[in-house]
Amino acid sequence: MSMVDTYFMVALEIVKSAGKLITEHVKGCKDYKLKSCDIDLVTEVDKAVETTILSKLKEEFPHHAFIGEESVAEGARVVLTDEPTWVLDPIDGTLNFVHGFPHSCISLGLLINKVPEMGIIYNPIMNQLFTALKHQGAYLNDQIIHVSKVKELKGALVAFEAGTSRDADKMKVVRENFDQIISKAQGMRALGSAALNMAMVAMGAADANFEFGIHAWDVAAGTIIVREAGGVVIDPAGGPFDILSRRVLCAGTKELAEELSKTLVQYYPERD
Ligand code: IPD
Repeated sequence: MSMVDTYFMVALEIVKSAGKLITEHVKGCKDYKLKSCDIDLVTEVDKAVETTILSKLKEEFPHHAFIGEESVAEGARVVLTDEPTWVLDPIDGTLNFVHGFPHSCISLGLLINKVPEMGIIYNPIMNQLFTALKHQGAYLNDQIIHVSKVKELKGALVAFEAGTSRDADKMKVVRENFDQIISKAQGMRALGSAALNMAMVAMGAADANFEFGIHAWDVAAGTIIVREAGGVVIDPAGGPFDILSRRVLCAGTKELAEELSKTLVQYYPERD
């Protein structure tokens, strides 16, 4: 068993146990606070899940580095070095969680030398556990998963989000891309969680997904899960994916990724 396999097994138990914090609080409306704007929310549960997971990981792996969404919201810097770095979104889909729309998850990725080595996306409400380790395939609840084979946009179900920013330039691009997708693709979906959108591509339930404005913690796990399921993850303009760029496009096939990339109006947010 490799070192990364051991990291994975430890992390998996920590994530599963932290999932109980989400299921215990899923019913009813939740109190929340605003972060960057009036649609960027955080609850006490986001903070509790992050504290629980990061403190346990730090205890197990004191020499590793950590990037957590809520720690960054409270002033920590995003620093990605070659050291083993855990990247955590304690609740991806916080707005869903607040409303009780059952698509929220814990997203945890591990990068070593800036390369994704393992990913866990866990939606405890729907009992969906997506996992991947490099070169070992991707799984949903222990069953191997594969991306779809759709090659053309006209036959594709594309997942994308309006995101959590009210920036006028960004909203203009969202509207333009919405128009593009509803006129050229077979269908569109927005699950309200960047990580779960990627998981849908990994299991072949959606054929592609893109978003401008995501953060490293939204996509650290999804990147390796999609790749291990046989899909591609690139920059939306067609170049290599950069986890700090706040831009992502993934698809089941290279052909679909390229067509979608050419179709999209591009947007370049400030980097993480
Ligand atoms: C957000 C969700 C949302 C996506 C945003 C993310 P959060 O994460 O994934 O669907 O559009 O870009 O920031 O705030 O719920 O952790």
